[in-house]
Amino acid sequence: MLVCSCNYITDKEIREVIVELLDQDCWQLIVPAKVYHAMGKRGRCCGCFPNVVDIIIKTTEEYHAERHSTSAEVIDYMSRLRQFHEENRRADIERRQQRHRAA
Ligand code: FES
Repeated sequence: MLVCSCNYITDKEIREVIVELLDQDCWQLIVPAKVYHAMGKRGRCCGCFPNVVDIIIKTTEEYHAERHSTSAEVIDYMSRLRQFHEENRRADIERRQQRHRAA
């Protein structure tokens, strides 16, 4: 399924890159920009980023479920990952509202 129409990136390609990043360091915080950078791409309109965040969270949960990470480690990590993405999402909305008011 096509996730990013600006760069023609599918969910399969995104999941593959996320797994590669997790293989390098399974506890790193992965953001859409990091995924796109690893693919040699960058966000243009960034409208796909909320969907990419959902794919990051789902793929990371599956990655740790398939490996032998302890429940406590996974819960702590997923909590930090969700909080990080939620804070970024809120900051994004505030930036857009400020730009809209300034225009
Ligand atoms: S849809 Fe992905 S950057 Fe525009």
